[in-house]
Amino acid sequence: MQSQSRWYDADIERVLITEEEIRAKTDELAKQVADDFAGIDQVVLVGVLKGAAMFMADFARALGRVGPAVELEFMAASSYGQGTTSSGVVRVLKDLDRDIAGKHVLVVEDIVDSGLTLSWLLKYLASRSAASVTVVTLFRKPAAMRSAPPLKYIGFDLPPEFVVGYGLDFGERYRELPYVAVLKPEVYARG
Ligand code: XMP
Ligand code: MG
Repeated sequence: MQSQSRWYDADIERVLITEEEIRAKTDELAKQVADDFAGIDQVVLVGVLKGAAMFMADFARALGRVGPAVELEFMAASSYGQGTTSSGVVRVLKDLDRDIAGKHVLVVEDIVDSGLTLSWLLKYLASRSAASVTVVTLFRKPAAMRSAPPLKYIGFDLPPEFVVGYGLDFGERYRELPYVAVLKPEVYARG
């Protein structure tokens, strides 16, 4: 059977992490979290928009099969502009809807690079008196090993390249790709 071509096929240089690998890893992370949270009834998942939207949806369902009950919260904080390098400036675009005081919070991140966004977010959540705050990130870039705050659950280590797909964008495009890929240099150059 011939698979249908997609609008983005011509833009892809190479696929780094396949859809199947993401699915298997998500289940594995959910099991780890379920084991560690055994005895805890309720966990508040804080998804970081927009990048973590896909992972949040899949991770919440994976955790729902094996772990505690979850509440879903979303925050939007931006440290990146339109381009591919961190500005270091974090802006809150969307705050939590509910009080997290006394709750067990698991931050659900798409990717940690410099860790600036996450460091800021952890301070912010700590100031709201959560019972505990831990982090699951699907992807980690090499810079995060030097400067990022501690990450308890990590899906994949990526090379120091700008990637797209599975929630990650370049200029707000490519988030819907089912895998994570590097785009062709000419696509990045088009900006
Ligand atoms: P920092 O440097 O603060 O960056 O850890 C975290 C945020 O930056 C974005 N980011 C990326 N987005 N492809 C993207 O589409 C990438 O390769 C990439 N690296 C970092 C992302 O929004 C993340 O939450
Ligand atoms: Mg982004």
